[in-house]
Amino acid sequence: MRRAHPSVTPWEVSGEINYEKLIKEFGVEKIDEKILERIKKHSPIHYMLKRKVFFAGRDLKWILDEYDKGNKFFLYTGRAPSGKVHLGHIMPWLFTKWLQDIFDVELWFQFPDEEKMLFKKDISFSDTKKFLEDNMLDVIALGFNPKKTHFIIDTKHAQLMYKPACEVAKKITFSMVKTSFGLNESSNIGQIFYTSMQAVPAFLPSIIKEKNIPCLIPHAVDQDPHFRLSRDILPKLGYYKPASIQCIFLPPLSGNEGKMSSSEQYTIYTTDSPKEVKDKINKYAFSGGQATLDEHRKKGGNPYIDVSFQYLRMLLEEDDKKLKQIHDDYKFGKLTTGELKKYTIEKINSFLEKHQKEREKAKKKIDEFIYTS
Ligand code: TRP
Repeated sequence: MRRAHPSVTPWEVSGEINYEKLIKEFGVEKIDEKILERIKKHSPIHYMLKRKVFFAGRDLKWILDEYDKGNKFFLYTGRAPSGKVHLGHIMPWLFTKWLQDIFDVELWFQFPDEEKMLFKKDISFSDTKKFLEDNMLDVIALGFNPKKTHFIIDTKHAQLMYKPACEVAKKITFSMVKTSFGLNESSNIGQIFYTSMQAVPAFLPSIIKEKNIPCLIPHAVDQDPHFRLSRDILPKLGYYKPASIQCIFLPPLSGNEGKMSSSEQYTIYTTDSPKEVKDKINKYAFSGGQATLDEHRKKGGNPYIDVSFQYLRMLLEEDDKKLKQIHDDYKFGKLTTGELKKYTIEKINSFLEKHQKEREKAKKKIDEFIYTS
């Protein structure tokens, strides 16, 4: 169901998301050719940039200027443990890994293990504890450099984080948080405080290293309200405004507007078996194809609303030529929905086969990633 009024806060993304409107209302900057040219000096452009999956940001020019002057930034992103990791989560993390590699920079990865406990009625600390380690395995499995990657866990690193979080909190009023996050008088006070915790990793490395270091945050658009606030507050505490690079959501299997989410009935998890993937795509992936084969051959399919095609475009098919071929063949009815799904299933399963092996190996590596001073 499409809702008339889309809602994008970090806790609810529903309705038809109009990304142009997000750009206008919130003032994020579209990533233009000039920025792409600048990035090209460091590496061939990532397919997620080329295809506008990562489509906007804040202060990207400044981040690159500083980098070129020898003032390296660090990356900051995160994941609130609350359930299994799915393909939609993997997308920005893969991109973050690419950024770490091409710029050879540190990544600070936050696991705010209190976030979903505070915001979801049915999630307790015992749930977040269960998923914390599980979720870390998915991050490690993507191949981040352990020497340059630091996991920060809010409850575990509370001693390190609480003071800076209070510094942030002191500069935020209830009314600022209310409007940014859709909270009200009956919201619990943990929710009102939470954004201060999410602000901390954007300047924690500067505190630890006792010098101001630029911060670049890769994230999905729903997290922007947090960092809009952080950008207001951090300069008041003597730190740089964090820059960001932002992506759209991987659509859910249903093809509904919004994001892939564990609250959708069918979602592809990183731990799914090849058979589960096959069944989910075949049964539930929304198709842009025609009702009958005859009609499909005549009229062709619509790749833009086809979930399998979108998974290939946004995440799975790195090869531009191959993607274009699939696009054209589908659009002109040469490629059927069944064939497109088969290819998508193969792509997901070959990604997951490797990922699941790395996930097993990651079990021994967790300690290397958790920050210790
Ligand atoms: N709030 C995010 C979530 O719901 C987790 C998170 C913490 C995050 N810090 C971040 C996401 C920085 C992106 C960037 O999972």
